[in-house]
Amino acid sequence: MSDFLDVLLQRHAAEQFDPTASITRSEIENLVQQASQTPSTFNLQHWRFVAVTDPQIRAQLSTTTIPPNRQRVIDASVVFVILGDLEAHRSLSEILEQSVKAGSLARETADLWISTANQLYGDQPQLAREEAVRSVSLAAMVLMLAARNRGFASCPIGFAPNQLREILGTSDRYTPLMMIAVGIDASTSRKRRPRLPLSQILSFDEFTELVPTRECLLRKPSRRSSRTTRVKS
Ligand SMILES: Cc1cc2nc3c(=O)[nH]c(=O)nc-3n(C[C@H](O)[C@H](O)[C@H](O)COP(=O)(O)O)c2cc1C
Repeated sequence: MSDFLDVLLQRHAAEQFDPTASITRSEIENLVQQASQTPSTFNLQHWRFVAVTDPQIRAQLSTTTIPPNRQRVIDASVVFVILGDLEAHRSLSEILEQSVKAGSLARETADLWISTANQLYGDQPQLAREEAVRSVSLAAMVLMLAARNRGFASCPIGFAPNQLREILGTSDRYTPLMMIAVGIDASTSRKRRPRLPLSQILSFDEFTELVPTRECLLRKPSRRSSRTTRVKS
């Protein structure tokens, strides 16, 4: 358990990467193999990874982000672009056939999943997109933890999706959802960025919205509760 905590707490968004470092193809494959263990709705596995190591393509990718990020994209050993499959349900029968053959899913369950998924996502592209975002986000986190576990640093990078699509030449079915730079950490400051305290992010049994004010947080009453609580920040 402490190993997991070490990995979790050592991961941070790296501000600089060592430009002389490189990563092997098998290391990249290893990281993606681990990231692909992520759960997804109906096991749809919406994620598609593009691992960019070519310096010229990384230079192009750097133009899709704001100036303070650019050097990181150039200096990282690999930049992963993770795309979401917006029509993942079209591949579901093929995916589930593997589980049925392996004996890990009953044929009737697979058939039920296929009809349910087609019904759910066929008419609701927005829901299909939300599922892709969920799956890719989870996979991205696993990728960053896997990278940390192998001694690499990472940083998620914001980007202009249309520009990125053009560079990678993706079809409309796949949308870029995450860009993650991975490499050897050369950050000078390594202080962990603090998180909100539990008192501001955790409530039990009913949702309690916390509204920050200048000196305190006003705990807004939920529909089930009539109490208003002030919490010291
Ligand atoms: C979707 C997403 C996009 C991000 N984009 C950027 C970015 O463009 N540049 C950057 O420096 N950090 C970026 N970050 C990193 C966050 O700023 C960072 O995770 C947060 O401040 C907490 O710091 P920590 O990860 O070091 O704990 C991004 C994080 C996420 C999840």
